Amino acid sequence: MRHGAPHGDVSGSNPQRIDAGYEQSLTGRDRFADPLLGGGVGKVAGNAVETGLGSAHGKTILLGEHSVVYGAPAIVLPLLDLQATASIRRARRGYITSDLYTGPLGAAPAHMQPVLTSLRASAEQLDVRADRVELTLRSTIPFERGLGSSAATSAAVVRAVANLAGVRLSATQTHALVQQAEQVAHGTSSGLDAHAVQSMTPLRFQQGKPTTVKVADKFTFVIADTGTSGSTAAAVDGVSMLRDIQSRVVDRVVEDLANLTDDVVYSLGIGDPIRVGQSMHEAHSLLAYLGVSSPALDAVVAAALEAGAYGAKLTGSGLGGCVLAVVPDQEQAGDVAAAMTAVGATRTWTTSLTPNNFELMTAPTARVGKEDR
Ligand code: PMV
Repeated sequence: MRHGAPHGDVSGSNPQRIDAGYEQSLTGRDRFADPLLGGGVGKVAGNAVETGLGSAHGKTILLGEHSVVYGAPAIVLPLLDLQATASIRRARRGYITSDLYTGPLGAAPAHMQPVLTSLRASAEQLDVRADRVELTLRSTIPFERGLGSSAATSAAVVRAVANLAGVRLSATQTHALVQQAEQVAHGTSSGLDAHAVQSMTPLRFQQGKPTTVKVADKFTFVIADTGTSGSTAAAVDGVSMLRDIQSRVVDRVVEDLANLTDDVVYSLGIGDPIRVGQSMHEAHSLLAYLGVSSPALDAVVAAALEAGAYGAKLTGSGLGGCVLAVVPDQEQAGDVAAAMTAVGATRTWTTSLTPNNFELMTAPTARVGKEDR
């Protein structure tokens, strides 16, 4: 089996993996700040550090992108091995080092605005001077490919600032700060990404509310990058403009996507990947109808189906970015990835969902329970 592109595993529900940023936030004497345990944002004596560290992971939307903006549900899978990390320390002047921009904070270009928003919002809340820090960002999440790069980077920054200040933020507080940056990045943002990059489990998300999804069997997915980037804001605006002209048709598509999403929740819960694939296939056609697919996305979807995927669709806002395919097993994943690469995909990854012990979960940020096989 030949792979023309790097093919990595970014398993989304390995129960052993721990998000470093989240783990960090559990250390120290700051548990009182967790709203589940009582209290709000709290300053913790003695916990401030010289270099604050934070991280968060990527995500892929299984179903419900775009329709989620209009109140329909969506399902999102965590990609724990695609990580954004931030480190921050106090300095005489503001400076940022990253793949997208390196230089003074004050001279950062427009595409850095979401990061700056997360920095300023969290610094203000946590008594850190945003203009007097050196911030270093690293990420293995491809930029503008619908895999959660902007939300994960913002979450990493928020966590790093909190770590520097010696403050424990709850998931809800982190979400609120990340969401401020997401509004800058996306224009209208459903809030899905900001939850997904903090969640260790698949989530069903609707109208601001995340709940953990039951997974009854192992599911294997392949993600393929078309190598083209899509602008989330442009795609969301495009759908909104179409809705202005054809509101009844678009509302009907949103309703159909909502039904497919809940059918996938059901299919995950009974362990039926074939049914998941059928719903994904239908969803891709509906998203294409909304105008957010592209020739490159359609070609990669078709190649995946031809190579034996149960179903494939664009994932994220579209107009470029990635395709997600559900496949029978790991071996078939290699064939599907090779076929996607043959029609132009520049990178592929495999991710799998393992069954979770749903009864042990406390949504929304619970880790996956014990595997039952
Ligand atoms: O940023 P992306 O490409 O993962 O897209 C986010 C999903 C949308 O539904 C298109 C927008 C949103 O805010 O939910």
